[in-house]
Amino acid sequence: MKIYLAPMEGITTYIYRNAYHKYYGGIDTYYTPFVANRTLKSRELRDVLPENNTALPLVPQILTNKTDVFLEIIEQLKDMGYNEVNFNLGCPSGTVVAKGRGAGFLDDPTELEKFLDIIYDKSPLPISIKTRLGIESLYEWEDLLKMYAKFPIKELIVHARTLSQQYGGTPHMEAFKMAQDMLSCPLCYNGDITDTDTYGKLLKECPDTTAVMIGRGAIADPELPVILKHSNFNFNQFCTSSTDNNEKIFNNNISEWRNNFMDYSKFLSFHDEILTGYRDYMSGEQPVLYKMKELWTLWSQHRNVDKKILKKIRKAQSISAYQSIVKQIYFNGL
Ligand SMILES: Cc1cc2nc3c(=O)[nH]c(=O)nc-3n(C[C@H](O)[C@H](O)[C@H](O)COP(=O)(O)O)c2cc1C
Repeated sequence: MKIYLAPMEGITTYIYRNAYHKYYGGIDTYYTPFVANRTLKSRELRDVLPENNTALPLVPQILTNKTDVFLEIIEQLKDMGYNEVNFNLGCPSGTVVAKGRGAGFLDDPTELEKFLDIIYDKSPLPISIKTRLGIESLYEWEDLLKMYAKFPIKELIVHARTLSQQYGGTPHMEAFKMAQDMLSCPLCYNGDITDTDTYGKLLKECPDTTAVMIGRGAIADPELPVILKHSNFNFNQFCTSSTDNNEKIFNNNISEWRNNFMDYSKFLSFHDEILTGYRDYMSGEQPVLYKMKELWTLWSQHRNVDKKILKKIRKAQSISAYQSIVKQIYFNGL
């Protein structure tokens, strides 16, 4: 199974990706959050520059609905040495959708097909696509799949939700199965893989799956990708037979892996590397604190951090105050 770390604007920055790769790994490919400007802004450029991503297998992502912008960005990325780009058809943010970009582009399949015709014809690099299922209803998905079937898509990453679901509701694994039945290009599943149970459910419903992309689940529990990678064989066993015995073997193996990997001091080193990374390039303490507080919103979900401590983190006004609270969590055993 290939495992990808999902692009998450503001979260999976190059600083986060590098620290993640060093301390946790288990990721076959990282994706940058989208770049969208013909001339890349300094934040976008910093995130994709090869010298900031030396150790990472990385695919940059583009968001636009203008072919000339797409082709200009792809030229710049090619010059940097990239050999694949990803096209964003999933972003649900109001401002992006209002401009007919991201998931908003799915609302105009005729224009989208013209766009894909041009970029697949002219692109100097292979293009993978990250898509949602449509705007409102699953009825749109079959037509979208018929359209995707016309293009040499390097890989179709399916975030199995519609735009109107935003990041909530249940992902439609059956829609991913439909893509497996209708398309011959490589496919990757994305949506709410948060633990071994959700991963097992995917493999039961879509046993032919060969790649998954994980976002919030891998941020909340950075051990997750490596655990899923090493439990692969047992999952296959689990999927072909659901006897109690198999379930037991499966659960024992998972807890063994957990014990091996549950290394809190590793988490603290990982945390400190991210903090140092942001302090090195952001000016002032407040932007750095903002970044770290945003991360704790996800980290705390898995680590069961006491609500009072989380509140203290949110209220911290200086890095030194913040650091002493984080230490406190650590010594309380997370
Ligand atoms: C804060 C945030 C930022 C995101 N930024 C991007 C982005 O830049 N590009 C993209 O394709 N998806 C983006 N996503 C969507 C994720 O890549 C992923 O598709 C989504 O979170 C579902 O996967 P998950 O359930 O594993 O988190 C973002 C999601 C979140 C929550």
